[in-house]
Amino acid sequence: MADGNSDNKSSNAMWGGRFASGPDAIMEEINASIDFDKTLYNEDIDGSIAHATMLAAKGIISEEDKASILDGLNTIRREIEGGTFTFSRRLEDIHMNIESRLRELIGPAAGRLHTARSRNDQVALDFRLWVKKELQKTDVALTGLISVFLTRAEEHADTVMPGFTHLQTAQPVTFGHHCMAYVEMFGRDRKRVRHAIEHLDESPIGAAALAGTGFAIDRHMTAEALGFSGGPTRNSIDTVSDRDFALEFLSLASICATHLSRLAEEIVIWSTPQFNFVRLSDSFSTGSSIMPQKKNPDAAELVRAKTGRINGALIALLTVMKGLPLAYSKDMQEDKEQVFDAAKNLDLAIAAMTGMVGDLTVNTASMKAAAGTGFSTATDLADWLVREAGLPFRDAHHATGHAVALAEKKGCDLADLSLEEFQSINPAITNGIFDVLTVEASVASRKSFGGTSPDGVRQQIAWWREQI
Ligand code: ARG
Repeated sequence: MADGNSDNKSSNAMWGGRFASGPDAIMEEINASIDFDKTLYNEDIDGSIAHATMLAAKGIISEEDKASILDGLNTIRREIEGGTFTFSRRLEDIHMNIESRLRELIGPAAGRLHTARSRNDQVALDFRLWVKKELQKTDVALTGLISVFLTRAEEHADTVMPGFTHLQTAQPVTFGHHCMAYVEMFGRDRKRVRHAIEHLDESPIGAAALAGTGFAIDRHMTAEALGFSGGPTRNSIDTVSDRDFALEFLSLASICATHLSRLAEEIVIWSTPQFNFVRLSDSFSTGSSIMPQKKNPDAAELVRAKTGRINGALIALLTVMKGLPLAYSKDMQEDKEQVFDAAKNLDLAIAAMTGMVGDLTVNTASMKAAAGTGFSTATDLADWLVREAGLPFRDAHHATGHAVALAEKKGCDLADLSLEEFQSINPAITNGIFDVLTVEASVASRKSFGGTSPDGVRQQIAWWREQI
């Protein structure tokens, strides 16, 4: 300090506000991760139990020390669960908080637990275990969401609605088919979850700081004890510097959140009085404080918005990782909050959508009425001309354009044109044309594999029921 005061750790106006107590406090604030990594206490204790058990089995620590370490760790787990454990920022992170309490409980034997390991492999282990559990939870949640969609699809395999491109009426589809589109998306999300589990299922513990250890540890033993089906990781440098598993979680979470957001957006649109396709239950909507007629789709809007923070988490962690030299750097401590926040919000968004889709009321009459507007069966007319009158598709398309223009001029639907009017456009047209102009006939005719015909949709539902 300029005034020669060497006590630069004491209060200094320069640090200002909450950092009034000086550099120590700033360092603690930026360095400590305990406020968020205490979430990992269970994984940390599980990892330490497996490690200590292995150390004793290999004769690196005594059976007696192992027993008191395990005892102490179990006590600590109970203390944390009972809310009596005092977390300290001074002790930086969950690893040191637990080890320090272990020393209080069992004395010097606690110091033997950290033999042949480092916080670098310890945190890689804890975080991997946590992400794995989260992925398993996501798998279950997605299965629930898929099931709800299958139920709705079954109920509405015959319910006709307009299908859209550019949000303009395109061709009639069924609501069941539309629901099954989401089943496909969430089914792929679930596959990504399973792949991610497969990729991360190797045990980091024993990589130590970055180079492995001179102690004769058994990494296969700890891998097995901790349920890693792929055994131990094969490169200690990669092990402590890898956060692919977190990035993979965030990227699949972002894709899934994007699917949820599109669904949310459709629910927002469908529930407007203008569309009136669905009615949300009271549990997933709110009233307006000023406009008594309103029923707002708040939950859907929030799901749509949550996608922003989940995508943000992915970009944040990609950015943290992109320039890091091997192996561990403290930058990597920034991985956890992103993942915890994304996981919490993804869980919530999936749960909200499962609830919303499960109990929304489908207004089949509005859907059907809308399905018939906008000349939605124009393609059926063109297809009929190809099939029954032998026209090349391009010519049929052209003739259909004339029919649409005529109906538009008369202010009626295609089906309301007379046979004479159709024949003035193309003399080959017969009464048979009226069979394909209804929306029901249109969807029933779309029998190609993966198409919207009610039979096809029922086949897809049956296939999916076997998958889940
Ligand atoms: N809290 C740290 C983290 O989350 C634990 C690892 C610390 N390792 C170290 N070498 N300082 O990354």
